[in-house]
Amino acid sequence: MRKKAIVKATPSLFDDLESSDGEAEISGEGKDTSSTFVGNLGLPVHRWFRYSAGFSAAWVRDVIEREKKNGRTRILDPFVGSGTVTLEGEASQVEAIGVESHPFVARIARAKLNWRESPKAFSTYALSILSDAKKEKVEQEDYPALMGKCFPPETFTRLEAIRCVWGRQADGSPLSELTWLALSAILRECSPVGTAQWQYVLPNKSKARVIDPFPAFEAKVRLFSADMTQRQREPAGPKALLYSEDARECQSVPAGWADLVITSPPYANNYDYADATRLEMTFFREIAGWGCLQKTVRKHLIRSCTQHVSPLTKQTDSIVREAVLAPIFGELQETCRALADAREGHGGKKPYHTMVAAYFKDMAEVWLALRRVTATGAIVCFVVGDSAPYGVYVPVDRWLGDLAVAAGFKSYNFEKTRDRNIKWKNRKHRVPLHEGRLWVQG
Ligand SMILES: C[S@@+](CC[C@H](N)C(=O)[O-])C[C@H]1O[C@@H](n2cnc3c(N)ncnc32)[C@H](O)[C@@H]1O
Repeated sequence: MRKKAIVKATPSLFDDLESSDGEAEISGEGKDTSSTFVGNLGLPVHRWFRYSAGFSAAWVRDVIEREKKNGRTRILDPFVGSGTVTLEGEASQVEAIGVESHPFVARIARAKLNWRESPKAFSTYALSILSDAKKEKVEQEDYPALMGKCFPPETFTRLEAIRCVWGRQADGSPLSELTWLALSAILRECSPVGTAQWQYVLPNKSKARVIDPFPAFEAKVRLFSADMTQRQREPAGPKALLYSEDARECQSVPAGWADLVITSPPYANNYDYADATRLEMTFFREIAGWGCLQKTVRKHLIRSCTQHVSPLTKQTDSIVREAVLAPIFGELQETCRALADAREGHGGKKPYHTMVAAYFKDMAEVWLALRRVTATGAIVCFVVGDSAPYGVYVPVDRWLGDLAVAAGFKSYNFEKTRDRNIKWKNRKHRVPLHEGRLWVQG
C-alpha cells in the first residue's frame, strides 16, 4: 500500500487541536506569521533546530528595539523554548534571561548560546567526530523499538556511530553541546517516515526528501559554523542566561529584574510538549518509554494537555476552587461543567474540563512569579490564542488578563493578530477563534 505524503504547512502553535477533537490540525488562516517559527528558518542560529512551537525572531526583535528606546533593557522569556528571545536580546545588546522547564528544549536553547565559540574550532571538533564515526563498528544492542519505526537499519547504524563517538568524549563543553545539537537536528531529516514536530512519529506517512546521516551531519556542522561566523560579525550584548526551571517559580530570576517580558506560553490546546521530543530523547537514551517521559519531562510542564491531567479528573472541582483562581471562579466553573457534560457525548472522553482548570491554576502561579521578578512599570507580552475544546468556548486572553491583574499588574489589553477556525470545512465545531498579543502593564 502506498504511504501518504506529508503536506508541507506553516504550523503555528495555535493552529491547534481543539477544532478537531484532539487530532493535530495544521492550517494557515490569516496572514500574520509572528506567532510561527517559519521566518526563523532563514535566520542564522535560530534555524539550527526546527522548533515548530517557536515564534518569529523578527517580531521579537522589533518589540525589543522599540522598548529599548523606552529604556527597557532587561528582557525575560519565562517559556523560552528554543531560545528565540534570548538570541534576539543578545543581538539587540540588552540583558536577557530565558527560563525553560523541558530539559531537552532548554538544552537546545542553551546550546545555541554557544554561537560565540570559534567556528573553526567547532568544525574541526565535529568533523573529526564524523570521520571517526565513519570507521566506528556499532554494536548491535537492543535499541528502542521507536528507533526501528523511524529509521531503516543502515540509517540508524550511521546515526548511532555518530552518537557513540560523540558520547565517548561528551563533556558538556560548548563544542560538545554544539555537536549534540547538530546531531539532534538531523534526526528527523534522516527519517523516511513522517516525523512532524507536533507528533513524535507518523509511521504511515513518508517524506519526499530523506538525507543520509553522514552528509546530513556534515552539512549541519558547516551551516552552524557559517552562522557562527556571520553572527560574530554583528554587534552583540552580554551573553544571555538560560535557566532550566519552572516558570511558575522563576526562582533564579532576581526580584524586580525584568522590565520587558516577551513570551508565548503553552496554550490549553492539547499540544503535548513532552511527547514532541520523544524521538530525540529516545535516540539519546534519555527516556525509555511513556513512564519515563512522565517523570523526566511532563511533571515540569504547565498542564496544557489531557494526557497530563487524566489522573486528576476527580479533583477538577477542588482545582477550580483554588484561591488563586478566585478572579475567574464563576465563569471557570461554568465552563468546566460544560466541558464535563460535553465529554459524555464524545467517544474519546478527553478530560478537557480538568485540563482547563489545571491550566489556569498553573498560569495564575506564573503571573504571581512574574509579578515578583518584574519591575514596576514593566511591560509583559503573551502571544496567546483562545480555545474551544469540544466546541465549548474558553476566553483564554481575557482570563489570563484577569489573573495578571489579580497578581498585581495594573491593566491589560488584547491586540488581535488573526482569526482562526473560520473556514468551517472539516471542522467539528464552528466557534470562531482568534490569536494575538496580550499586553499587560505593570
Ligand atoms: C510556545 S513554546 C515557546 C517557544 C519559544 N517562543 C520559541 O520561540 O522557541 C512554550 C514553551 O514552554 C515550555 N514550558 C512548558 N511548561 C513550562 C514551565 N512550567 N516552565 C517553563 N517552561 C515551560 C515548553 O516546553 C515550551 O518549550
